[in-house]
Amino acid sequence: MKMERLEKVFLWSTAVVLALFFGGIVLSVSESGIHLPDKVDTIDPTEVSSTPPFDAPGVYERGAGEYEVVVIAKAWAFEPAEITVPADAEVTFTVTSQDVIHGFMIPETQVNAMVIPGHITRVTYTFDEAGEHNIICHEFCGIGHHGMFGKVVVEG
Ligand code: CUA
Repeated sequence: MKMERLEKVFLWSTAVVLALFFGGIVLSVSESGIHLPDKVDTIDPTEVSSTPPFDAPGVYERGAGEYEVVVIAKAWAFEPAEITVPADAEVTFTVTSQDVIHGFMIPETQVNAMVIPGHITRVTYTFDEAGEHNIICHEFCGIGHHGMFGKVVVEG
């Protein structure tokens, strides 16, 4: 008799926890607008180097204090390997891969994205101090993965 009651308690608490979690998901979508990335632009991964803007990787000033950095990720390097941007500028990294899945991560910033062949990844960040940062590929992409680095130089 006692065991049956315990089972009921466990079953109901499981149901309550599941309902709370589900409610949390519904609330985060409806109230906070949290969702998966959408409106992802696509690209033919075999034509990356001839498709704008990736036919000319580099740093571009797109407005007052606004920069776009066009980057190709490939096994096992970022192109360009070194990027120079000013501090306090809104920098949007536009990244795609011409081969396999790579990562695009700048430690100690909020830049942390996957780069998937066929898709264009965009991440915006403002570096508020001069300095140097590594760009790290943090998705395993083959034998040279551990050596896949880039560099961001922020000029004050
Ligand atoms: Cu590219 Cu790991």
